[in-house]
Amino acid sequence: MANTTLMMIKPDAVENGYIGNILEKVTSAGFRIKALKLTRLTLSDAEHFYAVHNKRPFFGELVAFMTRGPIIAAVLEKENAVSDFRTLIGATNPSESAEGTIRKLYAKSMGENAVHGSDSYENAAIEAAFHFASREIF
Ligand code: RTP
Ligand code: MG
Repeated sequence: MANTTLMMIKPDAVENGYIGNILEKVTSAGFRIKALKLTRLTLSDAEHFYAVHNKRPFFGELVAFMTRGPIIAAVLEKENAVSDFRTLIGATNPSESAEGTIRKLYAKSMGENAVHGSDSYENAAIEAAFHFASREIF
């Protein structure tokens, strides 16, 4: 699982009809899709996925947001996948994201920011295993 990262297209971007646009940006940027699904996080899934933030004031809002509708989960492969994907999605707050980044194009706020990208290869592997069985990753 070297050179892989885990993407989620968050409920806001799915609701707004941006799945196709975002996947096009991702593949055009040279990422290969190794796994892909439309799914929905349960409350305990979201609490587990974002457990690192469970003491933060925005945690309740984050979990409510991430569970309110379906998401896309995907495993992506590219050299320097983790850092290149973070560059492609832009800053957490879309008002600070660079022009042309996914969050600049498709997100409206810090809380509802269209996409998730893993922050390390270690977490990418944990997050990929959270969403996919090994026979779903190619
Ligand atoms: P992500 O994990 O979703 O890719 O986002 P990130 O690394 O850019 O940001 P992180 O610090 O890990 O925060 C996770 C998500 O929590 C929400 N958040 N809201 N209202 C706030 O101050 C605030 N801060 C963070 C965002 O949805 C962020 O993506
Ligand atoms: Mg993060």
